[in-house]
Amino acid sequence: MNLHGRNLLKDTDLSAKEFRSVVELAARLRQEKRAGARMRRLAGRNIALVFEKSSTRTRSGFEVAAHDEGAHITYLGPEESHLGHKESVKDTARVLGRMFDGIEFRGSSQEAVETLGAYAGVPVWNGLTDTWHPTQLLADVLTMRDHAPAGLDEVSCCYLGDGRNNVANSLLVTGALLGLDVRICAPKSLWPAEEIRQTAAGLARESGAKILLSEDVAEGVEGADFLYTDVWLSMGEPEEAWGPRIEQLLPYQVNAKVLEASGNPEVKFLHCLPALHGRDTSVGRRLGERYGLDALEVTDEVFESPASVVFDQAENRMHTIKAVLVATAGA
Ligand code: CP
Ligand code: NVA
Repeated sequence: MNLHGRNLLKDTDLSAKEFRSVVELAARLRQEKRAGARMRRLAGRNIALVFEKSSTRTRSGFEVAAHDEGAHITYLGPEESHLGHKESVKDTARVLGRMFDGIEFRGSSQEAVETLGAYAGVPVWNGLTDTWHPTQLLADVLTMRDHAPAGLDEVSCCYLGDGRNNVANSLLVTGALLGLDVRICAPKSLWPAEEIRQTAAGLARESGAKILLSEDVAEGVEGADFLYTDVWLSMGEPEEAWGPRIEQLLPYQVNAKVLEASGNPEVKFLHCLPALHGRDTSVGRRLGERYGLDALEVTDEVFESPASVVFDQAENRMHTIKAVLVATAGA
């Protein structure tokens, strides 16, 4: 695999073979770290982390991965650069590209990350936009590989919830790219955009993936190895949207009944996190009180159950991000 100098702006920037190679590289890097070996494959490299939205996992994943491999990082938060206010994305790309060996970007606009990628002259990695979340999917695929009863090729995964957000879009196209059985279970108004469905259908024709979009929970989860959900309201969506969104998505909450409906006693639960599974966050408390709910997209019972592999998934963010950095910006 030679990915040197390549961007990761969306999941399909990688071929199926390249995607799998990055996941396998992450598994090797994880093993190496657990064995206490320290390599410096990014020694002397400088990496910019541009965040227009908040983050716990993605920022930490990039920082730890970079430090582990000997790179230096510079964090530019929403208030800390001129990007988009006083300086265009195109100009910022050319400036950062002169100083850094790689740039991570998290923000709303997919167009912005594409412009950075086109003009920086160094690898640019999408750390989440409103459209795609490719580094998330690398971690998800590693997690599924680790927990799949019959290997990654046989995996079936059903996503329940907001089916047209970044995570659902990325899951759909990545599942289609890799030839998985991937299902989106959501009300029709929250299905992925037509263009994204077309992309997935085209990839599935080549890979043999099975794609299902369904409004019916029983149909969606039947026989699934993994049930996946995400927040019902993504960063940047207006607060007033909570009420109608909760009404639309409550039937798609991942609870014990939904796990049971899969008919698979070994079914596993995935969530990209952060999750609203109880009242121990200010948002969870506020929404809980306002709408009379103890949980939103997933119940505490499922989140804390042995079926839940969400913290493996969170840890894998770092190992897979490290694999991306090493493969695209390493020596
Ligand atoms: N899953 C994920 O991207 O988490 P953060 O928003 O904490 O980076
Ligand atoms: N869909 C979520 C993902 C968070 C990691 C959001 O965009 O807020």
